[in-house]
Amino acid sequence: MGAEESAPGIGDGPNMPFERSVVVRRHPFETYQVMLGHLAPGWSHRIPCLARCRGNALLVMDAHLPPEVRGAIEEEIGGCFGSRLSVDSIPGGESLKQLEALSGVYDACGRAGIRRDGVILAAGGGTISDLTGFAAATWHRGTPWVVLPTTLLAQVDSSIGGKVGVNIHGLKNQVGAFHQPRAVVADMGWLRHLPAAELACGMAEVVKYALGFDPYLWEILGAMEGPLAYSCPHVSLIVGRCVDIKARCVAFDERDEGVRHLLNLGHTFAHVLEGEGICATHGVAVGLGLVAATRLGIRLGLCDPSLERAVVDVVRKFGLSAWVEAPPPDLFSAWQSDKKHTHGGWVVVVPTGRGSCRVVRDPPADAVREAFQSLFAGG
Ligand SMILES: NC(=O)c1ccc[n+]([C@@H]2O[C@H](COP(=O)([O-])OP(=O)(O)OC[C@H]3O[C@@H](n4cnc5c(N)ncnc54)[C@H](O)[C@@H]3O)[C@@H](O)[C@H]2O)c1
Ligand SMILES: [Zn+2]
Repeated sequence: MGAEESAPGIGDGPNMPFERSVVVRRHPFETYQVMLGHLAPGWSHRIPCLARCRGNALLVMDAHLPPEVRGAIEEEIGGCFGSRLSVDSIPGGESLKQLEALSGVYDACGRAGIRRDGVILAAGGGTISDLTGFAAATWHRGTPWVVLPTTLLAQVDSSIGGKVGVNIHGLKNQVGAFHQPRAVVADMGWLRHLPAAELACGMAEVVKYALGFDPYLWEILGAMEGPLAYSCPHVSLIVGRCVDIKARCVAFDERDEGVRHLLNLGHTFAHVLEGEGICATHGVAVGLGLVAATRLGIRLGLCDPSLERAVVDVVRKFGLSAWVEAPPPDLFSAWQSDKKHTHGGWVVVVPTGRGSCRVVRDPPADAVREAFQSLFAGG
């Protein structure tokens, strides 16, 4: 098991419209490809599960996508399926991930005549793909699906790995499934009109991958002057390296029982900050979480003290915060009750250098408390 990354053009044959592709290998005979770059029209005919599909297709699309992105996706998939395509436009955002919206997608599947020989496509950010993927996982006990991620966060993170679900009782992703897509296709051009705050959310995950897993990516981020622009010559290289890291973790641990936990770097702190309503966005919480995890790593003697400055600088460069302007609340009890800590003790991931990380089990309570407090004014 493992993930393979191909350089531009290599292995894809001539005229391949994708700049990079990463294979997610679940099992020696079961893989899917993540294809990314600046896509040329006609790309959908090169995706086997679309080109060979004999059934109907349903395209679930974020109604908030810029008109040019919506138009380009609809035209491309329409060119592949003709009259067999139905489109369902729904507004993306966290409030979408509810049972009512799920029921709406089932209705659309019914109207579109989707059977297991058909395909469901999700075009939008992580909320659209989490919802649509869960509908696909359960429609006819599992229908093929394809993700077209349109936010940076979705391209580097949520579109890969097959975790899908909705929120209930105010709890995030409380009902869900593992249902791997047949393919993921990401056009960097779709990021063109992404608001700065959404770009920063994606960058928080990019920083996580660089800090925890990829010294080369860490160097690239260090050399960048500001947030990742869709037109940056390295954009597909950067997104591709993140996808490759996630693909490797998923290949070794599809069900999130071991190595995939490492992807929680910064997130154990972030979940508490988000849960307590301290951060406006997930990205800001992850940025703060990466700073706190680094301080904890230093305190435990697992990484060099110089890493603190480097992480603070990178986080701030990409429009995220390194501290909170408020007196420190006691977040330790919230941390203790977070669900990620309940499997055989409390678990936290800390960096061990520029591009590596490790799990720490049952860290000393005072060290965790200090790491939280260091994020706050007067902490
Ligand atoms: N399944 C997983 O493994 C996984 C991993 C991480 C996060 N998630 C989930 O992903 C969700 C967050 O995803 P997200 O950040 O993509 O949020 P999102 O889907 O809410 O998109 C963010 C905003 O950007 C808008 N948008 C989308 N594409 C755009 C574009 N190209 N141009 C302009 N605006 C655009 C959306 O309408 C929305 O308002 C959360 O629900 C989280 O739980 C899932
Ligand atoms: Zn995250």
